[in-house]
Amino acid sequence: MSPAASQLPAAGSAGGPYDSVRDFLNDLEARGRVERIPEMDQDAFEMTAFAYRLLDRLGYEKAPAFVVERVKTGGQWREGPVLGNQFGSWVDEALVFGVQNISEDQEEMYWAVMNELFGRLDSGGRWQHIPPVEFSNAADAPCKQVRLKGDEIDIEQFAWLQNNPADAGRYINMGAVFVDDPEFGSNVGTYRCQVQGPRQIGVNMGPGQHAWRILNSMRKRGDKVARCAVAVGVDPITFVTSSTKMADFGVNELDVAGGLRGKPVEVVRCETCDIRVPAHAEMIIEGEIPLHETAPEGPYGELFGFLGPQVPENFFMNLKVVTHREKPWIQNSFTGITLDMPKGPQTAAEFNRYKQLIPNLTGFYTHKGTIGIVFVRINKRFPGEGMAAGQQVSANPGQNKVVIVVDDDVNIFNPVKVLHAIGARWQPGDATLIVPQTQMLVPDPSKPQTFLSSKIVIDATRQLPAEGGPKTFAPVSRQLLAESFPELFGQTDAKWGDIFAKWGG
Ligand SMILES: Cc1cc2nc3c(=O)[nH]c(=O)nc-3n(C[C@H](O)[C@H](O)[C@H](O)COP(=O)(O)O)c2cc1C
Repeated sequence: MSPAASQLPAAGSAGGPYDSVRDFLNDLEARGRVERIPEMDQDAFEMTAFAYRLLDRLGYEKAPAFVVERVKTGGQWREGPVLGNQFGSWVDEALVFGVQNISEDQEEMYWAVMNELFGRLDSGGRWQHIPPVEFSNAADAPCKQVRLKGDEIDIEQFAWLQNNPADAGRYINMGAVFVDDPEFGSNVGTYRCQVQGPRQIGVNMGPGQHAWRILNSMRKRGDKVARCAVAVGVDPITFVTSSTKMADFGVNELDVAGGLRGKPVEVVRCETCDIRVPAHAEMIIEGEIPLHETAPEGPYGELFGFLGPQVPENFFMNLKVVTHREKPWIQNSFTGITLDMPKGPQTAAEFNRYKQLIPNLTGFYTHKGTIGIVFVRINKRFPGEGMAAGQQVSANPGQNKVVIVVDDDVNIFNPVKVLHAIGARWQPGDATLIVPQTQMLVPDPSKPQTFLSSKIVIDATRQLPAEGGPKTFAPVSRQLLAESFPELFGQTDAKWGDIFAKWGG
């Protein structure tokens, strides 16, 4: 049950960076952003349907994180808790990144997160590094409270979920997968792991992912197996570095996580190998990936909300040791439905990079819950600037299929305002660029080929006469009113604010 507003910590208090996912959830809960549910039957897909309806009814910014204490999955009732939708709003992200003055205003929190994160980029636009440190007393590390070895392991006993009826089975889908290599160093990436038996899980790194490159080089070198560890329930910042391209190949994501946290990640050595894993994780699954064998994996309900195909030949891991906290917390990604990863670092890094390329850039935003559609805001002064800005952003090899450029007076945090600008300021004939085919890595189901997509730039800035626009652009009525009566909107809020509040405004 959410606490009453009077029980909340005072606005302005913020706890991040957190050492564990528990600390983060406790803070979220103290702010009334967690819904607890005693039990749900996921064999009847109750949690998936709940996730859909939660977001249908409340939207991405308002929907809380949810915690289900006990779950029926794989034919049995199992103890959780299982966590979903943990990184929904910019207010939640502000907590993660230790913003000091927390408010409920999404736009304000977006800028607060950006400003916090800009400060953690170096002058070259790279994330600062702080290497991990060993946890002081490894034997007492939280992630090692319970130790299971060999035949004691039954990974199926934990509350992993099957998200969709057509999925191949239950998945560990928010784990941080660690591999170490003498040549390339340590790598951490989030790759979903299908539960394939009591002591076998799939490890689904897509082609080109850093761990995929490392395992393939090991294979070419003639290695038989790769040691691997999957950390489940790591702290939010370690998770975001594991699940976003924030570290170049060969760079340890834990160094980046330390830089983002402003203090090192505490690690412990695995039981079976030298891989270092976060000491405060909920669970560590250790094992070996046979490099010359594969197993089929999937189908699985993917990121854009479509059912991906089965991968016939996929890496898998034989489990050797599992260590975990008492009553470990399970994070689940309802992939394509809930928000499972903070977006701040990726947005801040891109904003920072584009700022170098587009000096008059004043805003850059992809709405939570959408993929591939980006709003770019510029303070336009000269002909061609809107289209040039759009071309820079659409050149991103990862994403940005639809780039919409607007003037500085358009509120890019409100999609209706952007659509309005398209309706009122955009001429499709003159101010559109279609790139017939270029690189795009995100798995958009409309793409005819895996790494290729067409893209579009819509320059919805007011077109200047030199760009084929009207001689003078009609003035905006609201702007004229505000210029004539600068106090009017403030006075209106003061006089009739209670009416707006009564209607939820
Ligand atoms: C919840 C979640 C699940 C993910 N699952 C996969 C996956 O199964 N396979 C994959 O290749 N990438 C997956 N990703 C994206 C990768 O984690 C991301 O590209 C990351 O940068 C990979 O690490 P790397 O850069 O060290 O290869 C997932 C991301 C999230 C947030």
